[in-house]
Amino acid sequence: MARVLGSFLLLVVVSSVAMATDPSPLQDFCVADPSGQVLVNGFACKNPSLVQADDFYFGGLRMRGNTSNPVGSKVSPVFVDQLPGLNTLGIAMARVDYEPWGLNPPHFHPRATELFTVLEGTLEVGFVTSNPENRFITKVLQKGDVFVFPMRLVHFQRNIGNTKALAVSTLSSQNPGIVTIANAVFGSKPAISTDILAKAFQTGNDVIENLQLKF
Ligand SMILES: *[C@@H]1O[C@H](CO)[C@@H](O)[C@H](O)[C@H]1NC(C)=O
Repeated sequence: MARVLGSFLLLVVVSSVAMATDPSPLQDFCVADPSGQVLVNGFACKNPSLVQADDFYFGGLRMRGNTSNPVGSKVSPVFVDQLPGLNTLGIAMARVDYEPWGLNPPHFHPRATELFTVLEGTLEVGFVTSNPENRFITKVLQKGDVFVFPMRLVHFQRNIGNTKALAVSTLSSQNPGIVTIANAVFGSKPAISTDILAKAFQTGNDVIENLQLKF
């Protein structure tokens, strides 16, 4: 009996570890009510009798994103903030536009694995595994190719063509989050002390101050 109970508890522990992603829904839908006063993991549900087709719709990806910025790329997210019908469903997506040689700089998603599909152009992509290996896994993708960025690992994409590129990402959370490495490290508010970053990056305060000015 004790052994049966023991293996049952082990199963419970193992399966709760295996489900370390958005929780499963307990109803057909729970359209986000951003004005909801109840603080829960995600958003409270809009009254189902008031739900409309537009709650499950987002029309904002028809146009190219504005890539006039220093990195020459633009991510247009369709997360729960843009599409309230995604609430509790554990999925989201994004459109990514690139100028020729544009870069979607190194970043990670704290809550999602990303499945990345190239629709136009040729992209060099890569991610880096965790310590101590820090193995860099990289590939050149053509139109129609698919690549996966495992949850929480640092990754990037760069357009290596002389034409504009376009990709679509799907992500395993309604709210994947984006942590851009340079912005988080050199652009935090308030700033991390320059001497802390100088020691961490094994460089001079002047180099760090220059980076902090940019972000
Ligand atoms: C694109 O972004 C740039 C820089 O923020 C801005 O100056 C420009 O007006 C934007 N273009 C459009 C079409 O919105």
